[in-house]
Amino acid sequence: MGSIPETILVSSDKTIPLLGFGTAEYPFGASSETMKDSILHAIKLGYRHFDTAALYQSEPLLGEAISDAIQLGLVKSRDELFITSKLWCSDAHHDCVLPALHKTLKNLKLDYLDLYLVHWPVSVKPGEYELPVKQKDLVPFDLKSVWEAMEECQKLGLTKSIGVSNFSIKKLENLLATAKIPPAVNQVEMNPLWQQKKLRDFCEKKGIHITVYSPLGAKGTLWGTNLVLDCKVLKEIADAKGKTIAQVCLRWAHEQEASVLVKSFNEERMKENLDIFEWKLSQDDLQKINQIPQRKGFPGLEFISDEGPYKSLEELWDEEIDLSLEYFT
Ligand code: A2P
Repeated sequence: MGSIPETILVSSDKTIPLLGFGTAEYPFGASSETMKDSILHAIKLGYRHFDTAALYQSEPLLGEAISDAIQLGLVKSRDELFITSKLWCSDAHHDCVLPALHKTLKNLKLDYLDLYLVHWPVSVKPGEYELPVKQKDLVPFDLKSVWEAMEECQKLGLTKSIGVSNFSIKKLENLLATAKIPPAVNQVEMNPLWQQKKLRDFCEKKGIHITVYSPLGAKGTLWGTNLVLDCKVLKEIADAKGKTIAQVCLRWAHEQEASVLVKSFNEERMKENLDIFEWKLSQDDLQKINQIPQRKGFPGLEFISDEGPYKSLEELWDEEIDLSLEYFT
């Protein structure tokens, strides 16, 4: 198997590998040794892009795996890896951003990140790193001042690129209106059941690269759904091609020019998920996928409160969620 292709991030002129390895295992902090071994194995298999977050409690294990990989000679230096982490909502306050990044770097035992993301367009009172957040802790999100602090992180060389996650078009427009450094990436939920066409078109026009999370639906997590891996249309396509549903999902996301983060700690599936670069979906496959009914897996109900700042799903996602679907049952 060849190496993983890369693309350039317009905002920072750095490259990002188009397939990455997710480290969000739910419940967070559950399986430390397995995770470190899985990451080491992933590096052996050729994964170079690793995604973590202050929320996931996986930063220290990823840091240990990176140190071990260098010691074992699996990579020559940390520069061969692409490491993303994220600012949690309780640090989404201007003065908390830089200390939060320092803590993340300390956890990872690194001098710099490749990419630092604002995890959600949401702030909660400082202190807690938990999902669901406590609704009583939700406070207004001051995008402009948080982003200024993110820009400072990049200027200080503590991260090569900065970006956001879970941002709608409207929220990206608000950000672009004042940003001195535009976001390099918007990391969002995307898979054949939640294709995000409008958001993709907008991001392409603005030079914002999309990174995909939950490409397989993140089965078994708080934010996950079984509907993707159980989808009949995807199964038919996969069977006809001699591929798995997971490979069809990953290949589909790859063909949308996004980078894809997939999480598996199973050695066979880790290998299977790498085998998406030497074959293609046909026009007929793509058309069938385009017709799959759309439903967001993770609406983020925990960020909605009668007291605000977001009083409805529409305020959180703007026009990008179909409110005719019942998300509250
Ligand atoms: P496991 O770690 O046991 O392989 P996502 O990447 O969308 O967040 O989804 C992650 C979930 O999908 C995990 O439960 C993971 O389980 C499972 N998964 C990852 N790769 C595959 C695969 N190739 N086939 C089936 N399930 C997979």
